[in-house]
Amino acid sequence: MRGKGEGAMRIELEGVTLEVEDHGEGMPVVLLHGFPLSSETWTPIRTAVEQAARLITPDLRGFGGSDKPPGGYTMETFADDVLRLADRLGLEQFVLGGHSMGGYVALRLAAAHAERLAGLILIDTRASADTPDGKVRRAIAIERIRRGEAAAFLREFVPNLLGQASHTRAPKLATELLGIAAEVPGHVLAGCLAGMRDRPDSTDVLARLDVPALVIVGQEDTIAPPEVAHTMAAALPRAQLALIPLAGHTPSVERPIPTAEVILAFLRESFPPPPVAIKPRPA
Ligand code: MLT
Repeated sequence: MRGKGEGAMRIELEGVTLEVEDHGEGMPVVLLHGFPLSSETWTPIRTAVEQAARLITPDLRGFGGSDKPPGGYTMETFADDVLRLADRLGLEQFVLGGHSMGGYVALRLAAAHAERLAGLILIDTRASADTPDGKVRRAIAIERIRRGEAAAFLREFVPNLLGQASHTRAPKLATELLGIAAEVPGHVLAGCLAGMRDRPDSTDVLARLDVPALVIVGQEDTIAPPEVAHTMAAALPRAQLALIPLAGHTPSVERPIPTAEVILAFLRESFPPPPVAIKPRPA
């Protein structure tokens, strides 16, 4: 799974430069990765999705090849970066998708600029804020990272990004994800944990998003489990729900083929390409 496609570009926005892949034609689809990963998590589904869309996958600030400034790791700042990226690429409207933390970011962007969304893809994420217990767990993790225990935190956290079936069927996946996560500096890990802990509840945003939506969830996800996805799909006016068997929290790397298939089917059904005009032969 390691490695990006050909031709990642660096795009300078005000105050931060992001590394972005932008390939394919048709409806622009911007996919945001989760924590503590990078756009590499889209690599296994990239070629398939590019058959139906222009796929744009940034590394969020702090991750992958993007700048890692000392601050700016709130969900709103990530959303501002994505909006400025869309402006820079000239995207008036686009399908916005997010995996887990990327979904939190997508919903903050939707809360402020719903008019920019042609569609929405939510993957193993949730609209609700952290619970009080969840906030305490984030605070403990931030403290550990500040004490210099980032590696130990990641060794415990990252295996939860995969379902039990993946640990059994593809034990190397956990090592690969840990390799991506290990590149993320401690200040980014701590900043994102604080940003996720303090994010507002986005539940009320869902009912206002009257665009085609796809909610994907791995059947074995324990971080944002299937019942959470069901609730979000029910709250969205025009959503389909897709359950990916034998996947946990990160279906794009655990079960890339069924994950790409549901995204492709959704894009083809919701945003069919315009019919090709065939010129009649002169009589
Ligand atoms: C993620 O996958 O982005 C994170 O696990 C989300 C979270 O910790 O809430």
